Amino acid sequence: MSLLEVNNLVAGYGMVQVLNGISLSVEEGEVAVVLGANGAGKTTTLRALTGMIKTSGSVLFEGEEMVGKKTDQIVRHRIAHVPQGRGTVAQMDVDENLELGAYIRSDKAGIAADKQKMFELFPRLAERRKQAAGSLSGGEQQMLAIARALMMSPRLLLLDEPSLGLAPLIIRSVFDTLQQINTEFGTTMLVVEQNANLALGIAKSAFVLETGDIVAGGSAAQIAADDTIRKAYLGI
Ligand SMILES: Nc1ncnc2c1ncn2[C@@H]1O[C@H](COP(=O)(O)OP(=O)(O)OP(=O)(O)O)[C@@H](O)[C@H]1O
Ligand SMILES: [Mg+2]
Repeated sequence: MSLLEVNNLVAGYGMVQVLNGISLSVEEGEVAVVLGANGAGKTTTLRALTGMIKTSGSVLFEGEEMVGKKTDQIVRHRIAHVPQGRGTVAQMDVDENLELGAYIRSDKAGIAADKQKMFELFPRLAERRKQAAGSLSGGEQQMLAIARALMMSPRLLLLDEPSLGLAPLIIRSVFDTLQQINTEFGTTMLVVEQNANLALGIAKSAFVLETGDIVAGGSAAQIAADDTIRKAYLGI
């Protein structure tokens, strides 16, 4: 059984259907990526998985149905979501944002230890513990958003375009860190990205989303090597 099994997922906004019945699965411990152009439905997919919009079909997480549950119930299964465009509380400082990330946990010692781990993983955040999240640079805010999600000790980490709006060198370092997190902590990740080359570089499996349909899926290596897919959908 896969950790996450999505079957025939349909979702949209009001009368407008965006996802036309997509199916994908994510194995425990892997990094999976959903690639797709602007407007393909990547953000909508993550919103549907986390119960933020009206959804039908099936989302099995550890064998349990998530469709029909509210977002706060889904979060309690330890599914963390780093939304598009950061996901930090601007007025709160770095320390407070990290503590907020752990709100569903009650193990004080574990939380303190994990906070320490985050500062080791992201030394720039350690230097800015008392700085308001809103005054951090774009790259630092993305790091804080990821660290905050990790404070939940997630079983599944959903990331919405972690490369968005960042300089190439910073993007590289964010992706290197994601890979490090996957290797060191074994965190399962589902990343949605437009930056196909970078995302395929850290992923084990990949899906290509085009206007609400999954048009290709397989191992990341297979997708990366497929000239037809690259040319038709990835523009690389
Ligand atoms: N709140 C909303 N209300 C109505 N339509 C929406 C809403 N959010 C997104 N859409 C529409 O749904 C479609 C898919 O949008 P979505 O945000 O999922 O795309 P995306 O793949 O994440 O794109 P991007 O790479 O630009 O973030 C688009 O046509 C968009 O206009
Ligand atoms: Mg999006």
